[in-house]
Amino acid sequence: MKNIVVFASGSGSNFQAIINAVEDGRIHADITGLIASKPDIGAIKKAEAAKIPYQIIRRPDFDNESQFTEALLTTLSKWNPDLIVLAGYMVRLPEEIIRKYPKRIINIHPSLLPKYGGKGYYGLKVHQAVLESGDHETGCSVHYVNEIYDDGPVIKQTKVPVLPDDTPHSLSERVLKEEHKLLPAVINKLLTQN
Ligand code: GAR
Repeated sequence: MKNIVVFASGSGSNFQAIINAVEDGRIHADITGLIASKPDIGAIKKAEAAKIPYQIIRRPDFDNESQFTEALLTTLSKWNPDLIVLAGYMVRLPEEIIRKYPKRIINIHPSLLPKYGGKGYYGLKVHQAVLESGDHETGCSVHYVNEIYDDGPVIKQTKVPVLPDDTPHSLSERVLKEEHKLLPAVINKLLTQN
């Protein structure tokens, strides 16, 4: 059986989509752990409900980047991931982690990358920018993580229409629904082809 480790910072709806896919057999793997970037987030409640181990590893708790990296590496080696999934993880992953797990870290982003990616583009800000641009189409992307934020090669995208009366919130809901289908499908494909 392959192992998945998930990183999250928020409500964890994408994490829940992965849990659901494992439970109903669309993903053939175990979720061996959740790394949370802060306490009191929805993702932790979802881990507790599904009896998945979790660890809170907060960057501000460490004096420097190398101690933070060490904590992440220790936890990762315990959970032995074949695939690491950033599911709404809003912290920059240290380069050492990215080098240690080449082609084994993926991220979901709520836009059609390379559009609306990079610094400052996260959560509702992405959808706000799409609406301000006048684009008629947006979507979500799953991509490999490299050293540059939101820059690694795109694996798969789903397109979503932008409707005339959309708000950032309504657009985010439409995109999020597609994220919940795209992410488990990509995870299963990657785990079964390797
Ligand atoms: C998702 O829309 C995800 O694509 C986005 O954060 C949200 C997390 O929601 N990620 C980024 O913006 C990364 N740059 P969730 O906690 O409900 O899965």
